Amino acid sequence: MKIFIDSATVSEIKKADSYGILDGVTTNPSLIKRAVDSLKKAGKNIDMQRYIEDILKTAKGTPVSLEVIGADADTIIAEGKALFRRFNSIANNVVIKVPVNPAFKADDTTHFDGIKAIKALSAQGIPINCTLIFTPEQAILAAKAGAMYVSPFAGRVDDDLRKISGIEFDKADYYPSEGMVRGESIISDNGVVSGIDLVSQIAHIFAAYDIKTEILAASLRNPRQVREAAFAGADIATLPLSVIETLLHHHKTFEGMKSFTDDIVPAYSGMLKELR
Ligand code: G3P
Repeated sequence: MKIFIDSATVSEIKKADSYGILDGVTTNPSLIKRAVDSLKKAGKNIDMQRYIEDILKTAKGTPVSLEVIGADADTIIAEGKALFRRFNSIANNVVIKVPVNPAFKADDTTHFDGIKAIKALSAQGIPINCTLIFTPEQAILAAKAGAMYVSPFAGRVDDDLRKISGIEFDKADYYPSEGMVRGESIISDNGVVSGIDLVSQIAHIFAAYDIKTEILAASLRNPRQVREAAFAGADIATLPLSVIETLLHHHKTFEGMKSFTDDIVPAYSGMLKELR
């Protein structure tokens, strides 16, 4: 499974890249706001075009998703083309992120504008990451329209399931992939019992129909969820730096390291010094 960093903060992307395990970057307007706010706080002005160029160069040729903000097909297509035209030459790694359904109201007739835009942009060879996926059927349509990636928001599925059943939680809390029972039945959003279950359902469908679109599991907030995303068949997990940095934690690793270090004999450490 590939690991992307879910961040628009250059220092975080640099740090994750320095670990040697980074396969790409995802951004969204909220992450850009966070990056801009912290630069402002540090008294720095931001030139957005230079800043995006910096992100693209830092990612060193690995894919970087840049999100459109339009809510109708024509605007999304125009923004997608403009972003790609302006920035792809920098490091040849721009992916355009398009919401699966950019409607602001549930009864809005623009329901298919995201899908139409994905179709049009993909047909022009622009790689698309279709975002805000909450159902397997949204993923099927996005793949059918030509998306290179679909992004199920696993953590936000769990947030929703907990909210509808009145369970108190912190954002990073683990939610069981097999779901939770309340009363007689399992808590579900129309048959989806957890964020990881959403990833797993999409993976099963894509495998059954040999769909090549990659599953980019997003909104992952803890290490166990990352493991379960891999087990469920995600091609990619996009993670905040804070989650990437929890992936190596285990108290027994720490304990073992300490006892091995305590046992080092001078002859062995001396030999290593000589060899270096
Ligand atoms: O990539 C999606 C991500 O930024 C959303 O994460 O944790 O805010 O649901 P979260």
